[in-house]
Amino acid sequence: MDAILELKNVTKIFGSGHNVVSAMDDISLRLDADKPGIITVAGESGSGKTTMGNMVLGFLNPTSGKVMYKGNDIAKMSSKQRFIFHKEVQAVFQDPFAAYNPFYIVDRILELPLTQYKLGKSASEKKEMIHNALQLVGLRPAEVLGRYPHQLSGGQRQRIVVARALLLRPSLLVADEPVSMVDASLRANLLESIRKLNRDLRISVLYITHDLTTAYHISDAIMILYRGSVVEAGNEEKVIKNPSHPYTRLLIDSIPWPDITMQWGKEPLIEPSDAAMQRLIMGGSQICKFAPRCPNVMEQCWNQRPPLYRVDPDRVAACFLYQGGDVMPGEAMGDLFDGLIA
Ligand SMILES: Nc1ncnc2c1ncn2[C@@H]1O[C@H](COP(=O)(O)OP(=O)(O)OP(=O)(O)O)[C@@H](O)[C@H]1O
Ligand SMILES: [Mg+2]
Repeated sequence: MDAILELKNVTKIFGSGHNVVSAMDDISLRLDADKPGIITVAGESGSGKTTMGNMVLGFLNPTSGKVMYKGNDIAKMSSKQRFIFHKEVQAVFQDPFAAYNPFYIVDRILELPLTQYKLGKSASEKKEMIHNALQLVGLRPAEVLGRYPHQLSGGQRQRIVVARALLLRPSLLVADEPVSMVDASLRANLLESIRKLNRDLRISVLYITHDLTTAYHISDAIMILYRGSVVEAGNEEKVIKNPSHPYTRLLIDSIPWPDITMQWGKEPLIEPSDAAMQRLIMGGSQICKFAPRCPNVMEQCWNQRPPLYRVDPDRVAACFLYQGGDVMPGEAMGDLFDGLIA
């Protein structure tokens, strides 16, 4: 089975000397070409989500490990492979219009990628492609064409960006906080259209968010990051409804859920002491990164990095609370996710 996207033990370290940040720490995942799925990557600010997205888009190279697109190492692609890669892997960011020329009307913004990739033989064919893409994201062409970005609502703008990505018929969409700028009703709507694109057009999606309420319902599998490391991953419903890692519990407890009966009560949010943070810095890779904030911390957590324990057949957690369970090597994350995508 061919992988459309594969991360193999990817680590990204920024800075040098005393100023080192491990933004991604030995992360693996896989999305197969014949089973397009939606994988959510979640975690608080600074957990390494955008770093992962940028790595998948080829904007950053890993410090170690490999990011492969259709079997090719992104860092080593030829310029021809890279050109095709940039067409097939599209991004939707929080406020992507910041990157567009505000003096271009929407029509021009949508025509540019068609011209760049020589898609659409005639002007009328291009027009038809643009209309189709707009309709796919639930926009009426007459409502948005001929307008400048600032004349559109945030939700319309965000849809235009998805439409623009669709024009290139991507096989993979990297969506980094694509809905955080739009209001709640539009959010659900836009996420539903991303889900539809995944199902109907068979586009794989890497969905990056700090907001677990939006991850729920749309993703097939979820990965929770804390300071660049996977703390919990697997079946989205299990992770969200019944989190096993103390960090995931904190993350979920902090959400004002409207309708889900949560199994866990409010956990106290621990502000780490200076001494605990010092221990974390001194501990390096021989410590659980979450120990300073963990309500369940044990002595062992200060001396050893917990491996990924299988909590369920389709979910793992990096926590000694599950000691005694089977240990899953990080590289097996790809298989775990693969099993979750129908
Ligand atoms: N170019 C860079 N140089 C140095 N450090 C960086 C760089 N990019 C990111 N970092 C650091 O890497 C860590 C992860 O950053 P990243 O942007 O991936 O987080 P994030 O999970 O996307 O956060 P947010 O939810 O705020 O967008 C942070 O500590 C950040 O300060
Ligand atoms: Mg980010």
